[in-house]
Amino acid sequence: MKDWLWWRDGVVYQIYPRSWSDSNGDGVGDLEGVRRRLDHLSWLGVDAIWFSPITRSPMADFGYDVSDYCDIDPLFGTLDDFDRLLAEAHERGIRIVLDWVPNHSSDRHPWFEDSRSRRDSPRRNWYVWRDAAPGGGPPNNWYAVFGGRSWTWDEGTGQYYLHTFLPEQPELNWREPALVEAMHDTLRFWLDRGVDGFRMDVIHALAKDPGLRDNPEIEGARPGRFGQQHVHDENHPDVHPIVRGIRGVLDAYDERMAVGEVYLMDPTEVAKYYGEGDELHLAFNFSVMKTPWDADGFREQIERFEGLLPEKYGWPTLVLSSHDEPRHASRYDHPEHGDARARLAAMLLLTLRGTPFLYYGEEIGMRNVEIPADRLQDPVGINIHPKASRDPERTPMLWDGSPDAGFGSSDPWLPFGPELGRRSVAAQRDDPASLLCLYRDLLALRRETPALHRGSYRGLDAPPGIFAFERRHGDSRVEVALNFSDAPQRWQGSGGPVQGGLCTRSGAALPGDTGVDLGPAEGVALILPGG
Ligand code: NOJ
Repeated sequence: MKDWLWWRDGVVYQIYPRSWSDSNGDGVGDLEGVRRRLDHLSWLGVDAIWFSPITRSPMADFGYDVSDYCDIDPLFGTLDDFDRLLAEAHERGIRIVLDWVPNHSSDRHPWFEDSRSRRDSPRRNWYVWRDAAPGGGPPNNWYAVFGGRSWTWDEGTGQYYLHTFLPEQPELNWREPALVEAMHDTLRFWLDRGVDGFRMDVIHALAKDPGLRDNPEIEGARPGRFGQQHVHDENHPDVHPIVRGIRGVLDAYDERMAVGEVYLMDPTEVAKYYGEGDELHLAFNFSVMKTPWDADGFREQIERFEGLLPEKYGWPTLVLSSHDEPRHASRYDHPEHGDARARLAAMLLLTLRGTPFLYYGEEIGMRNVEIPADRLQDPVGINIHPKASRDPERTPMLWDGSPDAGFGSSDPWLPFGPELGRRSVAAQRDDPASLLCLYRDLLALRRETPALHRGSYRGLDAPPGIFAFERRHGDSRVEVALNFSDAPQRWQGSGGPVQGGLCTRSGAALPGDTGVDLGPAEGVALILPGG
């Protein structure tokens, strides 16, 4: 293994491009806006940016419905803007990871327009078409994630087409070799331009049961997506050779990375996507993100995944927030200890073994923003229920205290929310006690401490409410103790002397040895002699 491998040892920062920085004042963020704000990322010390989709899209699902895999959507800029941004990011040592959406395209993609034009279109089989069930109706009992059935009737050709998400997101058929080749080419397009990696959307759904059999119903459950066992519409064993094929494309290039959105709550299944080092480099382990605020809960999930990962090729991922989940500062909020919890969560994320993925705005503790009904954008909020909307975690970045938050438009596509003027990068950058400065300090500590960026993990005994672990790499050793309880706790640790580290409590001096009194939602990461 090389000494420093960016995607294993570094930290990735997710930008939801609509909401990060708007250079042309149209209310939606763009690539030029990002370029102008690269200083923030250099200052923070991240190693890579993952962009949610910036490719051409009619935006039915805000970019997750792609109408051209090889061009930038005009809302975000041009290919030239992208090349410039990539070059400037690389100059700063920041890698670029693109979102790649291989499970479905937009219904406005020329491939689909061709496919639906006639039954004998050469691209008919690039999508999944079926006759109606005998007696009429959809070919099987599958339901879409975003509401309704997974099948939409096409009047023109008299068949149904499959879609796991919106009808505007028809399923690509990975059992069709010509489609596979075309999709591999879309990867090569970006790899040749110098893109460092891809976040691969719903990668576990690329293969379906070849006979498209009905999913078994869960006894007593309400009919619908959640009333079925998803044995035939996702995580089919045939997905693994498909992922190996994708990996083969990346392996023809130097140090590129694939991280998969394997949205399965069973970590045993997630771990399989690392293959024998010939599938994904990384797979998101969402079970940690789904864990309530509880020391034992976090420990259990972390250790479970550690135990499942292939020893030689497995490397965990650490995620607490994303564009699909309520922000963790809101999920874990508390009337008294909310801010302390956000600080403790930062220490959890940045001291564990694995590649951390930060979601924009979490470094300043952005909370979910309540979106008035008439401002809803997310099709999930509109089709299913406003409470299911993902808009609250997608609001514009709060850069400073001005009326446009420094975002670039005072009338952005989603409202800023009540923290406009109260929470911002500018205010926190000047305050060494801020959450933002804690993030930067944790990133720096992680980078300079081999035990933290690539060391082993070992759980340590600790009183109830505390999650404690040791990280170790060669002579580098760190003990971390995180108090998830709302009461003060004493933690003993293995001794001392403490040679460095960080406390989440602002202004707290480092202890001389590992015996520390931790206040509610407080943690320490202590560098200790190796051995
Ligand atoms: C997962 C993405 O993260 C989500 O935002 C999107 O809506 C679905 N996949 C469909 O592409």
